[in-house]
Amino acid sequence: MNHSPIVAEAEIFAKEQLAGDSTGHDWFHTERVRNTAALIAEMEQGDVFICTVAATLHDVADEKLNPSKEAGLDKVHNWLKQHLADEAQIKHIMLIIETMSFSGGGGEPMSTLEGRIVQDADRLDALGAIGIARTMVFSGAKGRPVYDPEIAPRDESLQKEYRDYSKGTAVNHFYEKLLKLKDLMNTPYGRKLAEERHDFMLGFLEQFYKEWNQGSH
Ligand code: ADP
Ligand code: NI
Repeated sequence: MNHSPIVAEAEIFAKEQLAGDSTGHDWFHTERVRNTAALIAEMEQGDVFICTVAATLHDVADEKLNPSKEAGLDKVHNWLKQHLADEAQIKHIMLIIETMSFSGGGGEPMSTLEGRIVQDADRLDALGAIGIARTMVFSGAKGRPVYDPEIAPRDESLQKEYRDYSKGTAVNHFYEKLLKLKDLMNTPYGRKLAEERHDFMLGFLEQFYKEWNQGSH
C-alpha cells in the first residue's frame, strides 16, 4: 500500500461517493480493486501511486451514480485538481478512469501499463469466490433466477447471451462474461491470479450441476 496523504484523502472521497450503492460497486469492491491493483503494480513494476489512486476513484465517475458519464468524470477531475499538483499525474489518472468508464467493464484497450493493471484488478473482482457472490447478489437484485437449464444449458454451443437482465440467469452470466475474462487479462501477474479464480468458478459450476441433477437419472 502507498501511504501518501492523497491516498487517504481519495479513500474518504470514494467512500462518501459510493455510500449506499447497491449495484455491486460499494466501497469494499473499490477497496479490493485498489489493493489488488497495488499488488499487481509491485509485481509488474508499474507506478503504485497512479494505480492506487486510479483504482480508488475508478467507480466514482460511474454513470449509475451520476447524472451522466461526463458529470461523473468532471467530479473526479475537479477532485484531482484540488489534491494533486502534477498535471501529468492528473492526466494519466483521468485517462484510466475515462477508458474504464467508457468501456463499461468491456474490452477497451488501455494505452498505459497502469491502466492495464487497474483494469486487470477490476476484472479480478468479478472472478472467483467473490465474483460468484457478487453475481448472485446482483442477479437477486435484478430478479434473475439462479439457474434454468433451458437458459443456461451445460452444452456451451447452446448457451446464449442475455443483455436483458429480466431474461437471463445468474449461472448464465458465467458464460456471458465471467469465463471470458481470463483470456482478456493484460498483465502476466494479473493472468496468473485470474487462472486460479477461473478454475475455482469451473469447479463451482461442476459441483452446482452435480447437485442440481442428483437423483434425476
Ligand atoms: P464492473 O463495472 O465491476 O466491471 P458490472 O457493473 O458489469 O461490473 O457488474 C458488477 C457485478 O455485478 C459483477 O461482478 C457481476 O458479477 C455482476 N453482474 C453484472 N452483470 C450481471 C448480469 N447480467 N447477471 C448477473 N450478474 C451480473
Ligand atoms: Ni469496479
